[in-house]
Amino acid sequence: MPGAMFEQLLTTTRIVRTDRLTADDLDRLILYCAGPDASVAVIEDNRPFGPRDRMLEAFASLRPLVRQNRVFPDPKVDDIMAMARALAGRGTDVIVGIGGGSTLDSAKGVAAVLSNGGDLDDYLGPAPVRKIEKRDVKLILIPTTAGTGSEMTRFGVYTARTGRKYTLASPWLQADAAVLVTEYTSDLPAPLTASTSFDALSHALETLWNRNATPVSDRAAAEAAVRILRWMEPAFDCSADGRREMLEGACMAGIAFNRTGTAAVHALSFILSEEWHVPHGVACAFSLEDVMLENLHDSATAAKLAGVARTLFGDAPHDLLLYRLRDRIVELKRKFGLPFTFADLGVHAGSGELQPLFEKALDDPKMGNNVVPFDMGVVNRIIASKCRP
Ligand SMILES: [Fe+2]
Repeated sequence: MPGAMFEQLLTTTRIVRTDRLTADDLDRLILYCAGPDASVAVIEDNRPFGPRDRMLEAFASLRPLVRQNRVFPDPKVDDIMAMARALAGRGTDVIVGIGGGSTLDSAKGVAAVLSNGGDLDDYLGPAPVRKIEKRDVKLILIPTTAGTGSEMTRFGVYTARTGRKYTLASPWLQADAAVLVTEYTSDLPAPLTASTSFDALSHALETLWNRNATPVSDRAAAEAAVRILRWMEPAFDCSADGRREMLEGACMAGIAFNRTGTAAVHALSFILSEEWHVPHGVACAFSLEDVMLENLHDSATAAKLAGVARTLFGDAPHDLLLYRLRDRIVELKRKFGLPFTFADLGVHAGSGELQPLFEKALDDPKMGNNVVPFDMGVVNRIIASKCRP
């Protein structure tokens, strides 16, 4: 079966796949989405990126184009508001986000504020004062990393002015089209491949150990998990096939967790990013095998994970399959140079100092999605295990 034919039925976002994206391709896409006279704003990061820059320079001769690049990891409200202000009143018809997850989330945030007004902070947190009620611009998202799956989700993650990271969810954050361009991930540096691969794997697995799971989300997530676990090592080793498959796998994982939200791994990861600016995928990888072990207490989740392992490793007794899956995750983390302990993160503190910092993870709605309930006892146990030398 061609890799990703059927998942299109699970999403309202149209998926376009190509090895290279030319200015003419993007122009045609915008023509079909928004018409011949549509004007375009591109949200991108400020690092030079040859394939994107050459394409956009050629595209600028085809349509009115504004480029905005106040994009940084863990996108902050002030940066998104600055880009929205720069675009206000210019009659933008289409926002195109080209970049990693932070860029795509920034594009979603700019589109939301341009269409609904106010300040992005008003939409964030447990008691937001505003709600996203519409989108007046078309949204096209083009990932340059294979990780967040943001191109396929109704979620955006933003750092409020208080410094807390919040997930914003709205059907109006769902893109009209996602374009998967193999060339854009072909030169991804190894540390970024490691981080984004584990973000994608976490999305697939967190969809499986999720209270909102359905047979459909389970199927999509299991397929994504198998694909990602099969291809993340070749992608890390710079195989072209690996890079292409990971782009697909991350996209499929995005489709899967769009139905359920994420769970404990992501709730814990937000604290690591807020406190020590740990990159998102690295922060997800940090507790992935520990959260997996906790979730094996749910027999339905254990059966799903054993099914993933059986597809990957062949038939074996249930418990052995689960051990092999956990070992594979640990082995990949080692090979990718990802952290296992707080000391690996450069954080030198005892569990007594660290545990209180993680209390707020329990208030995160993502924690409530986890199929096995997490209380401070469980969280403290995980943290203590990561304080050992
Ligand atoms: Fe994530």
